[in-house]
Amino acid sequence: MVAAPEGFSVRVFVTGAGGQLGRELVEVFADHDLVALSREQLDVADRDAVFDALLGAKPDAVVHAAAWTDVDGCEADTDRAWRVNSLATRHVAGAARLVGASVCYISTDYVFSGDGVFPGDTGRPYTEWDQTGPRSMYGRSKLGGELELGAEDTVVRTSWLCGRHGANFVKTMLRLAGERDDIAVVADQHGCPTFADDLAATVRLLVTSRLPGTFHVTNQVPTTWYQFAKDTLSAAGLDADKVRPVGTADLGPPRPAPRPVWSVLDNAALRLSGLPLLADHRESLQRLVKELVDR
Ligand SMILES: NC(=O)c1ccc[n+]([C@@H]2O[C@H](COP(=O)([O-])OP(=O)(O)OC[C@H]3O[C@@H](n4cnc5c(N)ncnc54)[C@H](OP(=O)(O)O)[C@@H]3O)[C@@H](O)[C@H]2O)c1
Repeated sequence: MVAAPEGFSVRVFVTGAGGQLGRELVEVFADHDLVALSREQLDVADRDAVFDALLGAKPDAVVHAAAWTDVDGCEADTDRAWRVNSLATRHVAGAARLVGASVCYISTDYVFSGDGVFPGDTGRPYTEWDQTGPRSMYGRSKLGGELELGAEDTVVRTSWLCGRHGANFVKTMLRLAGERDDIAVVADQHGCPTFADDLAATVRLLVTSRLPGTFHVTNQVPTTWYQFAKDTLSAAGLDADKVRPVGTADLGPPRPAPRPVWSVLDNAALRLSGLPLLADHRESLQRLVKELVDR
């Protein structure tokens, strides 16, 4: 594959820079000419503000990490979901086009149905070329964002994000382990945990190498939330037997947005391009838990 050499100097603009991934992006692009704006500094749903900011900064690449990630909230306020996740991406893509910048848009496993590549056919990971079919408003609005992009842009779909910054599953499990003797976790939803620092490093590679197209980028080796919870407690030296498996159906009233049963993304575009895959999620989990526990 012909790609610009990694490390090719680009002026980078990051949206959603205050978020879980955004903060890692700020670190990973620290040696670049970087403009990184949090929601307080730039509301991506404000078209004029987006055009002002991008025309002022004149970046070569925009990493668009801003999103409304409240999956259940999106069901309750669909207009806000469309505005922040879909229409705002139109603003970002339009302004980027004016200044000749490419966009790297961070997307999600929720663009798929979560029922399997073919209905009920769980066991086969979704590739970048499989049919999308979101079942939640969050997934529909993130897919709407994907549809705003052009041939020069990059879509990075990821899943089960966790890391040092912000609230996430690993932090929740560590907290619950200190509060409870019994932690019920769903054992029938499958996916690949992804660590924000590992993801940010691959985003950097794709951006500085100027690789357009859709890429699935997750840490390797699928698991269930139940097994991930047990591995989290074990990594912290805590009693993993506190974690009890339950089925999604046993969890009381269903949540407003359906959770995908099968969210495993095949990182086929990376793999078939000979680009490095992210580490086994259990390796990155050890690193994150150590950092959180040592704090
Ligand atoms: N978390 C996951 O498990 C997961 C999985 C797959 C894909 N993704 C995708 O990965 C990307 C990063 O997610 P994340 O986990 O880092 O989420 P996050 O922590 O919620 O970060 C998103 C950031 O966007 C900001 N934002 C919200 N509305 C905005 C607006 N109108 N203008 C500008 N900024 C706005 C948020 O600010 P506030 O916090 O102030 O609202 C937040 O700082 C998102 O595109 C998400 O869809 C996440």
